[in-house]
Amino acid sequence: MRRASREAEPGNPRNRYASAWRNKDWTIDQNWPSYSAQEHDRWRRLFERQAKLLPGRACEAFLEAKAMLGLSAAGIPDFADLSDRLSALTGWRVAPVAGLIPDDAFFDHLANRRFPAGAFIRPEAELDYLEEPDVFHDMFGHAPLLANPVYAQFLEAYGKGGRRALERGQLHNLARLYWYTVEFGLIASPEGLRIFGAGILSSPAETIFSLEDSSPNRIGFDLERVMRTKYMIDDFQQTYFVIDSFEKLLQDCYQDFGTLYDRLHAAPDIAAHALIEDDRIITKGDFRYFRAKGKAPASDALNAAG
Ligand SMILES: [Fe+2]
Repeated sequence: MRRASREAEPGNPRNRYASAWRNKDWTIDQNWPSYSAQEHDRWRRLFERQAKLLPGRACEAFLEAKAMLGLSAAGIPDFADLSDRLSALTGWRVAPVAGLIPDDAFFDHLANRRFPAGAFIRPEAELDYLEEPDVFHDMFGHAPLLANPVYAQFLEAYGKGGRRALERGQLHNLARLYWYTVEFGLIASPEGLRIFGAGILSSPAETIFSLEDSSPNRIGFDLERVMRTKYMIDDFQQTYFVIDSFEKLLQDCYQDFGTLYDRLHAAPDIAAHALIEDDRIITKGDFRYFRAKGKAPASDALNAAG
């Protein structure tokens, strides 16, 4: 996940790589043999809990790729081994990092088919919610779809577009595309909606919520609409966007973003909960979950952009 979060303090046990030596590109040595039995066991429990929920909820491409890469409950994967299997399929590798890295370094990795993945595993106290991406979120949630050739091309193109977004001061627009697809995307299938976003796939509660709860909106993907839409970083999403296929996503995004950025520069942001004219509404949220937490907007504002 790309969430703004506090830096782990050196020596802070929640991330034992916090003070690890970093290469210029922010990668570190995973030092796989150093994981403890307790850390591997934590992976196993997270893996088994999540794997049970995914049949019929995760998209087929994800489930197939997870099996193809040999990801299993046996223990925290060795990044080098997994990279070798991944690389044989699409040329992607996973690169161990200590935590969140600067945007330019992140984009440079993606543009070169390297996915920066957190090497630490979340502490017991944060099994259900974590503030920064750990090895379970990144390897279980993100790595499998890197084996899908079309998704792999989409993510490389995203990385290549990053520098331009930074130069134009429109990173917030591009980040929303990542958020609502790579992290929290849904995909249509003949059997119904399925999940492909890593933020959902690595969270048991959001796996259920995103597909089965009546609270959030579910709206057909539209590139410009998504890039105008704010998002929630500390709770479930108020709106999920649904792509038709990875091919269509790639096709929609494989274009020069210059004129799109010009339009976005002049267009107002859209609140996370809001519906706008022309939305292809799949389900209109009743926001019950958010209301119960005092997080929902007033009902008369539900259709307002802002
Ligand atoms: Fe992520």
